[in-house]
Amino acid sequence: MRNLIIAIDGPAGAGKSTVAQIVARRLNYVYIDTGAMYRAVTWLTNQEKIPLEDAAKVSEMAYHMNLELLYREGKTTVRVNGLDVTQEIRTPAVSRLVPGIAQIAGVREAMLKVQREMAGRGGVVMDGRDIGTYVLPNADIKIFLTASVAVRAKRRWQELNNRGFTMELAQIEAEISARDKADCERDIAPLCQAPDAILVDTTDLTIEGAVTAILNICKERS
Ligand code: C5P
Repeated sequence: MRNLIIAIDGPAGAGKSTVAQIVARRLNYVYIDTGAMYRAVTWLTNQEKIPLEDAAKVSEMAYHMNLELLYREGKTTVRVNGLDVTQEIRTPAVSRLVPGIAQIAGVREAMLKVQREMAGRGGVVMDGRDIGTYVLPNADIKIFLTASVAVRAKRRWQELNNRGFTMELAQIEAEISARDKADCERDIAPLCQAPDAILVDTTDLTIEGAVTAILNICKERS
């Protein structure tokens, strides 16, 4: 199979990163988690005590921070200014704040530049919210991965539970809905299905089922 550029977009908890990582591993491609980049910017904004509403300062920080996504043996390590923040960026607190940071034009510009460079000449699976629509509009394969909000909340609850965070399912569902709304309604690069993206609904699919569906699409299109 030639070196494809595969874009996977969708709302929180649809299984994008899990599925995208497996697809990348099976194809021997690089996996790029763009959500982790916005999470890293959010984490550093907090660390540096920059007010979240100070768009100019946050953007400047985003341009100058040293953000590294190291993908090795199926795992992504996220480093900010040399510090490993892979775990720190996955807390419920960061999840709550990230849509506010992700709607800042300067932050998106800074990330867009890095993301396009990373996609390079292909052989990549990139996941996020705006990959098929804005970041890589010429991607060879565009997938819009979604699932019902109830199922997404349940998955996130399970994942958080496994990592030692105890939260009510209803609270997670409310937070996921709020994040979807913020991501879909923002002015710049909102979350939406690209006209040429293929919808994969994982509500009733296992991880393996979703992976197979995407790999079949790749085979058909390559
Ligand atoms: O994918 P993940 O849930 O880690 O993304 C965290 C947040 O980062 C999203 O809710 C969204 O606000 C933002 N994001 C974005 N554009 C992307 C990827 C993520 O705005 N391409």
